Amino acid sequence: MIKRKFRRSPLFYVGDKYKLLNEIVHLFPKSINRFFEPFVGGGSVFLNVLANEYVLNDKDKYLIELHKLLLNFRNNNKEFFKKLYEIINYYGFSQSFKKDIVPIELKKKFPKTYYARFNKEAFEKLKKDFNEEKERDYFKLFVLLIYGFNRMLRFNSNGNFNLPVGNVDFNSNVVNALYDYFLFTKNKKIKFYNFDYLEFLNFQEFKVDDFIYFDPPYLITNSEYNKYWTVKDEENLINFLDSLNQKKIKFAISNVIRYKERHNSVFENWSKKYNTFEIKSNYISYHDNSLKEMLEVLVTNYIPKIDSQEKLFEEDISFLNK
Ligand SMILES: C[S@@+](CC[C@H](N)C(=O)[O-])C[C@H]1O[C@@H](n2cnc3c(N)ncnc32)[C@H](O)[C@@H]1O
Repeated sequence: MIKRKFRRSPLFYVGDKYKLLNEIVHLFPKSINRFFEPFVGGGSVFLNVLANEYVLNDKDKYLIELHKLLLNFRNNNKEFFKKLYEIINYYGFSQSFKKDIVPIELKKKFPKTYYARFNKEAFEKLKKDFNEEKERDYFKLFVLLIYGFNRMLRFNSNGNFNLPVGNVDFNSNVVNALYDYFLFTKNKKIKFYNFDYLEFLNFQEFKVDDFIYFDPPYLITNSEYNKYWTVKDEENLINFLDSLNQKKIKFAISNVIRYKERHNSVFENWSKKYNTFEIKSNYISYHDNSLKEMLEVLVTNYIPKIDSQEKLFEEDISFLNK
């Protein structure tokens, strides 16, 4: 039996919590009825949490469409891969998971960038076709994500996908992440929503055995989705958290208190009312590699029982290697 710790989402979200899961998930409550994530992103967190139900939200429409696409095929993986390979083959992308079709001369000439060079033409054609479609085919968007720059989703103001090809491939990491997603979500009660987080939270009726994990944009770090997050947003969020606490609803929230010369004093002052756990983050920032000047935390309004989610990770995954 092969054991492994955490599932990675096949959406490979930039800034996801995958590398920090071992610091975070064991601080979650022991028993969760409904697990809420108002800022679900790529989903790396919910994929590693046991609950009876999952209620998930993100403001990013395309991200939610991709989650819904994956969820629709969770009981029909074969069909999903069939459709994916149809697109990959039609456009002529590399696909090291199945066979290596990149010419040896290209590899020799461009040893570090041959995937980007090989896939560029296919990628541009697929991007054009996707952007011209009236009714968007989210399979195509998933393929753009897999072969795109940094595996990101980025759209311009006209609603057109606008990233260049990445130096990446459809490899066994992608296939394993897809199987993980399908296997974990199979037979589970999961719903995705696409609202602003406050709107999403305001129409829920929380109960005491629910748990809400918040991973909002961070006020003081640099990331695409942090650009529009203001001090006012931060204040609204912590006010909402106080109201949850008054109703005895459990929550945990990730945030960054210190980043280089910047300091999130609004959050830090507020957090003193609750329990703060330091998270040893090891992000390599896109802009800067200096890692020491960042203080990331998880704040909870309950005292965690350590190692509570352990059994989740003891499963047989040897079928993935067949
Ligand atoms: C730090 S990321 C979450 C990453 C996630 N934990 C993961 O592991 O992939 C923050 C997310 O919040 C979303 N977001 C930003 N502003 C939002 C808002 N007002 N309401 C809901 N979601 C929002 C962004 O689209 C982004 O996906």
